[in-house]
Amino acid sequence: MCGIVGYIGTQQAAPLLLEGLTRLEHRGYDSAGLAVLGATSSSSLKVAKKAGRVRDLQGDLPKRFAGKVGIGHTRWATHGPANDVNAHPHVDAKGDVAVVHNGIIDNASTLRQQLTADGVTLASDTDTEVLAHLIGRSSAETLEGRVAEALAQVDGTYGLAVVHADFPDRIVVARNGSPLIIGVGEKEMLVASDLAALVRHTTTVAHLEDGELATLTASGFTTYRTDLTRAPREATEVDVDPSAYELSGEGEHESFMHQEMREQPAAAERVLRGRLDERFGTAHLGGLNMDARETRAIRRVKILGCGSAYYVGQMGASLIEELARIPADAEAASEFRYRDPVIEADTLYVAVSQSGETIDTLLAVQEIRRKGGRVIGLVNVVGSAIAREVDGGIYLHSGPEVAVASTKALTNMFLGFSLLALQLGRVRDLSIADGKRLIGALTTLPEQMGEVLEQEDALAEVARTLAEAESLFFVGRVRGFPVAREGAQKFKEISYRHAEAYQTSELKHGPLALISPDVPTVAIVPADELTDRNVGALHEIAARGGPLVVVTHADVDLGEVVCTRIDVPRSERELDPILLTIPLQLLAYHAALHLGHDIDKPRNLAKSVTVE
Ligand code: AGP
Repeated sequence: MCGIVGYIGTQQAAPLLLEGLTRLEHRGYDSAGLAVLGATSSSSLKVAKKAGRVRDLQGDLPKRFAGKVGIGHTRWATHGPANDVNAHPHVDAKGDVAVVHNGIIDNASTLRQQLTADGVTLASDTDTEVLAHLIGRSSAETLEGRVAEALAQVDGTYGLAVVHADFPDRIVVARNGSPLIIGVGEKEMLVASDLAALVRHTTTVAHLEDGELATLTASGFTTYRTDLTRAPREATEVDVDPSAYELSGEGEHESFMHQEMREQPAAAERVLRGRLDERFGTAHLGGLNMDARETRAIRRVKILGCGSAYYVGQMGASLIEELARIPADAEAASEFRYRDPVIEADTLYVAVSQSGETIDTLLAVQEIRRKGGRVIGLVNVVGSAIAREVDGGIYLHSGPEVAVASTKALTNMFLGFSLLALQLGRVRDLSIADGKRLIGALTTLPEQMGEVLEQEDALAEVARTLAEAESLFFVGRVRGFPVAREGAQKFKEISYRHAEAYQTSELKHGPLALISPDVPTVAIVPADELTDRNVGALHEIAARGGPLVVVTHADVDLGEVVCTRIDVPRSERELDPILLTIPLQLLAYHAALHLGHDIDKPRNLAKSVTVE
């Protein structure tokens, strides 16, 4: 949440910072700002900031905004509304210090009161501004000393970057709970909260750790602990293709979400590649760091994730129970830590996250590890905080995901869980024949995903009708329920329609009261042991005049039910949920497109939720 970028070197900073912010905008997009410094100590700090998008800031940038040192920020509001004053950078009373910050200062209100009592006038409603004043008022001789002195007074999380007119040869950055990556260039250094802002300039990077500060000058970087003792850190090469962060050149996709949905078959092939063992009907997941004996000793699996990752976690729990016969469930990571959970030695905890940064999931992982539990990760972003914190894991290999609405990463989470369930099952009672049956089905899935995506035009038409409704239900049972939850999540996230997920079986216990010709239901009805009961529920909805869209398999007989039918290819029952999910992504996407919304940057949201 919130994007930070900084530059020091031989080029003008502002154009580079604006370009970097554009690439980080998915992390927060309610306002943006820049601060730049010239090379001499007489040069004053220049700040420009504005509510709205980076392009609004760009259009408004003063003509004279020169400087080869600078920091930039794109904001997702936590303290105070999205307006020009609350936008970052924040400056101290003299206008010498500028700070950009990602995270939350928990004791900001106390610090604001203390500063006010000392005669400081705070300009904004933000927690960040206190940092600028604390740094500005410090009498330490070095900028590093001033930042460290200020940080000693704050509780909370931060990734921050600071420039100071008295120290024009450096940017000082610090991290505690919010990511910061240093990029090493030729006579220039960059810093950003996400690799996306660096890869066009350099792939030589160093990750700052929690509790560390760093000084960037044009010729290099130095890392410290908060007591300013040296904490040497090496920069390494990252293996990324910068074009993976771009919309494909042919203009085929008007949004990242569309591109990312379309990439799903290829992404699915990547997560499966080299991990299926056809001979023994099992999966190879070396990264789990568990031998067969340890795997057999697992008595329970607890999956933790947030939002859509939590819903896919529910799909994963079903897969593990069915294939490995180990009791498994998923829980919202955001709630887990606060109920003082009992951590069991024979439970395998699984954290699932695209970004690997979601603070609620990261804190849940830390809670488990603090209590001695074993936790593995299903994570997309290599080297992210969760990936580094867990005991082992499975990388998802989806490639960078830019759209706030997650699609290809979720698909690969499901496949990651399929691999895990297969491996857990095969060291227990899953037969080699069943293992081979599933491997056959997994291998076919990418092609079947492609078949679902080919139905886009028909789905777009259905979506345009659904978009007219103010309120919708998404319903499913057992394996189909998390599919319905994910479908409702995607629909509300980008279409802003009220979409509620229910177990189909629960409708008659209350929500049926809301069914009417104005309230459509999207029902998940796979060919499985519950088909007849699901079809029965469709009759009950239709009898009350509720319009129906049914996502099903071609061989399911829906009888006389009047509905719009969407058929997806059949896989093995355990794997059906993912093929049933993909049409729901397209429904959400085309509803949002029809309503004219910004698909990749839905209102009020941001990619990578790094605040609690
Ligand atoms: C998905 O469409 C959402 N934007 C959101 O629920 C997301 O899945 C959640 O915030 C978790 O993110 P993570 O996978 O990066 O941890």
